[in-house]
Amino acid sequence: MSETGATRTLRIHILRYNPQDTTSKARMQTFEVAEAAGMTLFVALTEIRETQDPSLNFDFVCRAGICGSCGMMINGRPALACRTLTKDLPEDITLLPLPVFELIADLSVNTGRWMRDMAERLETWVHGSDMDPDVDALEAPMDPDRAEEIYELERCIECGCCIAACGTAHMRPDFVGAVGLNKIARFRVDPRDERDDRSLYELIGDEDGVFGCMTLLGCADTCPKDLPLAEQIAFLRRKMLSAARSV
Ligand code: SF4
Ligand code: F3S
Ligand code: FES
Repeated sequence: MSETGATRTLRIHILRYNPQDTTSKARMQTFEVAEAAGMTLFVALTEIRETQDPSLNFDFVCRAGICGSCGMMINGRPALACRTLTKDLPEDITLLPLPVFELIADLSVNTGRWMRDMAERLETWVHGSDMDPDVDALEAPMDPDRAEEIYELERCIECGCCIAACGTAHMRPDFVGAVGLNKIARFRVDPRDERDDRSLYELIGDEDGVFGCMTLLGCADTCPKDLPLAEQIAFLRRKMLSAARSV
């Protein structure tokens, strides 16, 4: 809807390309959609797939900004399509897949593989000698303020927007990005994790880690969960510099 209440016709320009199909050639395709009140890009894309082109590829699971699967470039900015209202966009909307990640087809990318590789490299699990292997065992109580601090950093939904927005990630394929650095920051404040700064330095104390960050801040500008990425990266950089001096 326009500000005057008239229904707008949206022109949605979408990159079409399927790298698995040897006959596929990258091209932009335009679809017209009548805008409805409260329409999100998820609704618009679903309408296109149901009424105009069933072959259109895009990813959605939760439609509520929780699963992180619907990240895409929306008029040049990475964002979650399910949380983007068409009323906040002009009539011409250009959608591209997130860069850096492996393209599956059209707007669908494989963030899962990238996130798994990063998680394995950074060992993003609690390293504690007294972790009870019994999954049904009750966890030891934790100070509520500390639990809140960990929870704040755990709100990451691994959508990949911070990677798509980061110039370093575009240049360095192994850069762990704000999502990876945020995970290390999370383990630094977890009392159950016994890794010290020197062992974390082994993981992120190089140009694929915290010293690759050029403080471009695209990550902080685009994170849909408003995670304190700039503060966490600055904090980690100071800590890792201290750890480097002690090596
Ligand atoms: Fe997405 Fe933010 Fe997590 Fe990056 S840090 S993957 S932008 S939720
Ligand atoms: Fe990239 Fe964010 Fe650093 S955009 S360069 S990780 S501040
Ligand atoms: Fe889950 Fe958008 S569909 S975050």
